Amino acid sequence: MSSIPSSKGFDSTLSLLSNPYGFIAETCHALHTDLFETRILFQKTICMTGAAAAEVFYSEDGLVRAGSMPKRIQKTLLGEKGIQGLDGEAHRHRKQMFMSLMASERIEALENTTRDLLDRYARDWEAADEVVLYDQAREILTRIACDWSGVPLPEAEVETRTAQMTALFQDAGAVGWKHWGARLARHRAERWAAGIIERVRDGSLQTRQESAAHVVATWRDLNGELLTSKVAAVELLNVVRPIVAVSAFIAQAAHALHRHPEWRQKLKDDEGQFEPFVQEVRRFYPFFPAVAARVKRDFEWRGYRFPEGYRVLLDLYGTNTDARSWDAPQEFRPERFQDREDNPYDFIPQGGGDHHKNHRCPGEWIAISQMKAFCSFLVNAINFEVPDQVLDLETGELPPMPKSRFIMRNVRRRQ
Ligand code: HEM
Repeated sequence: MSSIPSSKGFDSTLSLLSNPYGFIAETCHALHTDLFETRILFQKTICMTGAAAAEVFYSEDGLVRAGSMPKRIQKTLLGEKGIQGLDGEAHRHRKQMFMSLMASERIEALENTTRDLLDRYARDWEAADEVVLYDQAREILTRIACDWSGVPLPEAEVETRTAQMTALFQDAGAVGWKHWGARLARHRAERWAAGIIERVRDGSLQTRQESAAHVVATWRDLNGELLTSKVAAVELLNVVRPIVAVSAFIAQAAHALHRHPEWRQKLKDDEGQFEPFVQEVRRFYPFFPAVAARVKRDFEWRGYRFPEGYRVLLDLYGTNTDARSWDAPQEFRPERFQDREDNPYDFIPQGGGDHHKNHRCPGEWIAISQMKAFCSFLVNAINFEVPDQVLDLETGELPPMPKSRFIMRNVRRRQ
């Protein structure tokens, strides 16, 4: 058995933090390998990139999620004791709860609400000097996420809840006061969500049976027990928060439309082009850099031993832009998705493998349909100008977005 190549230096935490989307792939490239060993936060870690690495990451029983996620991410982005840290039967059972929310008619209903709301918002945009698309998208998505999930959202709370959901995904990886702000947002959001679960359970809040609030509040774990209200709150937020996070993909999609104006016309002419366009946005633009697991028992891959206790990081962005899977990966080319066969391991912006069996994101269809709804609105329902602004992607941020958050001017609805 050969030993896994090592990166330079004792600990790579700073290298990963300063180059979250490039560190793993670039180091692999320099070492002519798909995997290497290092330390992250002083813990022994194996970093991997590419489709073959993704396949082993999602199919190897010796890899588990329990104990793999740094505490600072649990205290902000994910919460504790939610689905992300479950394994085996307990995971598969909890995953059914999320998958039961994703029927195509439910996703269509969500998309229709977005279209109606966009039309309402556009009336205000006409009267405004400037519209910051990312901010507007976050607010719209907070409204639709709550409405769709059966979570009451009084008008006076829209701003607060939008800010809380944003802090959870935008400031989770930050250091210093922003990180502490995200922890506070997590605390307050969980208290809010737990209150909703309790009201559904005691009957004082009536919600539609198919809504996330109802499904989560009445879900029974493998032992036949209801989830504690704390865990149910984490899971309800696992629906509301990421719907709001789709706003980052929307700002990135607007950026792509602006940088590739020929695609505006293509989308106008042929509705069938929205799918390849948004898929290419999900591939090309960085979002989450990597996912983590832990070796529960030793196993071997390609003659390398993965020792028990090691953390394993799978490079998502590097896999989506791996030249072995993608021609000219750094070029934005939606046509590559026009007749591409699905592959669960080489295109993994929201994780890979199987939605039911693995930890792959159950919200992919929502992300895609919301991106399509917003892009279709930008292309077909309004005219607008894009004033001079700093559109470079803010690489110090996770997810990286245009620095200006995408400003539009002179918005006019088409008749
Ligand atoms: C898991 C990305 C939207 C709910 C994940 C994972 C990633 C991801 C990378 C982890 C995959 C893994 O661990 O292997 C994204 C991105 C989104 C998005 C970039 C777009 C903004 C959504 C939406 C929902 C959602 C809209 C729900 C409505 C979840 C849940 C999990 C998850 C519950 C945990 C699944 C599990 O552990 O089995 N997502 N997601 N996500 N996502 Fe998403």
